[in-house]
Amino acid sequence: MLKKVQKILSKKKRTPIVCLTSYSKAFAQVIDKYCDIILVGDSVANVLYGMKDTKNMTLDMMIKHTQSVKLGVKKSLLIVDMPRNTYKNKTDALKNAKKIINKTRCDGVKLESNYKNYNIIRHLVKAGITVMGHIGFTPQFKNRFRVSGNTTTEKNKLINEAKKIEKAGAFSIVLECITANVSKEITNQLKISTIGIGSSVNCDGQILVTDDILGLSGFYPKFIKKYANLDKVIEKGVQKYKSDVLKRRFPKKKNTY
Ligand code: KIV
Repeated sequence: MLKKVQKILSKKKRTPIVCLTSYSKAFAQVIDKYCDIILVGDSVANVLYGMKDTKNMTLDMMIKHTQSVKLGVKKSLLIVDMPRNTYKNKTDALKNAKKIINKTRCDGVKLESNYKNYNIIRHLVKAGITVMGHIGFTPQFKNRFRVSGNTTTEKNKLINEAKKIEKAGAFSIVLECITANVSKEITNQLKISTIGIGSSVNCDGQILVTDDILGLSGFYPKFIKKYANLDKVIEKGVQKYKSDVLKRRFPKKKNTY
């Protein structure tokens, strides 16, 4: 097991795990100091490419973004989302996970759960690959946003799913938009780490999309807290640049050869 993974697991019941997404070196090199895990999420499809969902994200696009992110990561565990069509069976999953790892030197991969891919996770783990699971709202397999865990049937299904992913060998599971009570049950019943997004403070750690918390994505549902308004900062800078260019205040002598 990777040292970084051991360190993350040792935080269970002691220190919350801090995770964020990154799609580029520029963001990765700033957030790395503050994160335990950086995820190259396939949310890049919505956030950067304006796609309506993540279903058409390709392996090559994930690899390109991860190569950029890797340049800015010194200490965090670097995990990469496997696109939906890349882990349909054990053979494809292993071939594609190895391709991601070999081409990017990331630490591991994340697979969304469709209640069926436990044997795929087991296969990757047996091959020595670090795997993160993902349950609750799993955008690769669902068409409509919805919070899960509100009924006893759903609660039991989620707990069962989380336990199967743990048994398959994943080191951690993202719980996306699961009720606070069910998140607590799952977190208490598992030895591996739960990372919440929209799933309350009852998880072992938290993850959010960096562009959302910095005010760059225009997507701010209830589970997001905005920590900065970078859109405003960029606008101010660009306004000033425009005004300098129009008034011939830029470039100055010191900017000129
Ligand atoms: O794609 C992504 O960014 C994710 C996180 C939101 C967990 O899966």
